[in-house]
Amino acid sequence: MIQNIKGTRDILPDEVVQWQRIEAIIRRVTRTFDYKEIRTPVIEYTELFQKSAGEGSDVVSKEMYSFNDRSQEQICLRPELTAPVARVVAQNTLLRANPTLRLWYSGPCFRYERPQLGRQRQFHQVGAECIGSTHPESDAEIITLGYNLITQCGIQDFELHINSLGSVDSRKNYRDALVSYLKQFEPQLSEDSQRRLGTNPLRILDSKDEADKAIVASAPKLVDCLDESSMQHFRDVQALLQAAGIPFVINPVLVRGLDYYTHTVFEFKTNSLGAQDAIGGGGRYDNLFETIKAQPASGVGFGIGLERLILLASKQNENAVEDLDCFLVADAKYLATALEYAQLIRNNGFSCRTDLQRRSFKAQMKEADKFGARKVLILAESEIADKSFTVKDMKTGTQESIIYSPEALLRSLSH
Ligand code: HAM
Repeated sequence: MIQNIKGTRDILPDEVVQWQRIEAIIRRVTRTFDYKEIRTPVIEYTELFQKSAGEGSDVVSKEMYSFNDRSQEQICLRPELTAPVARVVAQNTLLRANPTLRLWYSGPCFRYERPQLGRQRQFHQVGAECIGSTHPESDAEIITLGYNLITQCGIQDFELHINSLGSVDSRKNYRDALVSYLKQFEPQLSEDSQRRLGTNPLRILDSKDEADKAIVASAPKLVDCLDESSMQHFRDVQALLQAAGIPFVINPVLVRGLDYYTHTVFEFKTNSLGAQDAIGGGGRYDNLFETIKAQPASGVGFGIGLERLILLASKQNENAVEDLDCFLVADAKYLATALEYAQLIRNNGFSCRTDLQRRSFKAQMKEADKFGARKVLILAESEIADKSFTVKDMKTGTQESIIYSPEALLRSLSH
């Protein structure tokens, strides 16, 4: 039999309930910050990511689903959404009408990675971008939004790590200082880090290799290379997070994997996802628009892996059941009446399930219980004879016989 592609997952109906619960929380929380949803295509020109995330990043150099289409255009399945959102903003000159854009998104992304728990080749990201402000209050707003999203999903077991890469210049100074330090130890570095020394040396700072860690321990520190205004920006972000009551730790080796970051970078980290410790992450990107040849603009944002969010949230809500308003238990002789009632119920916004297997009365009652029905409507011979219906409240177990009228039936479901 043909199976699904490695690293992809089917989301089965039982899991969809969890997804919808989380998606509803996302919509609610983003609304509380007045962020507007944006949707962009799944395919983009490969160049968009080469220019923004950088050729040296793992995402671009190893993980992109990039190919030539039938007209020999080099396109790819998007590995992330920040660069596409920046493209949309620039292409539609959205900043002209509104100097600060607050946007959120949710959708599939693709990275050719080795699949494991919480890591897939097709995964979903929910994210937000605040574009148009260089000020630390926009960093603080974005971090607070990400923090609220995670906590509102019922997740407590995580830590917010923050760091600053400083301005483009301080980041470059630091890169030079780091490379000249690491060069002395090149032969001792892991193979991956040796490769990164030429392409993406900052990533060596968060290497998991023990030998690398020992060398990195004495490397020059990012904070020592920050210029005064970068330091001030970082201090302001911290003060604002404190004012918002958001707990954080400063992680001096947090650098993130994409090239476009400047100043603040952050990650929401957890110990509950095995090898994958990031629920989400993001940062400021004051240079990204220029790298994609757009009118310069500043932004700050985050992306959170929905699969990771749902894995963690499900741990807290293992018994969440589907929310069914009514199960209509009817004898097969009265299918027409059952369908008429079901139509009335559904057209008035209640969910209603009927039996399609012509099962016994007892088996139908069992089904109603299994699907977590709030109320059961019963239509048997006696109900049909005296034009009534019986309603059972599944929580209290009380049962009542009521003379049928459309209003009476709907009223019986609404409390
Ligand atoms: P990122 O750190 O590459 O950042 O990805 C953000 C989140 O997406 C990760 O923390 C993780 O939860 C999830 N994720 C990444 N790869 C996978 C995968 N293979 N399987 C499952 N989940 C995954 C970005 O993508 C930036 N665009 C975030 C950002 C927005 N920065 C500024 N604005």
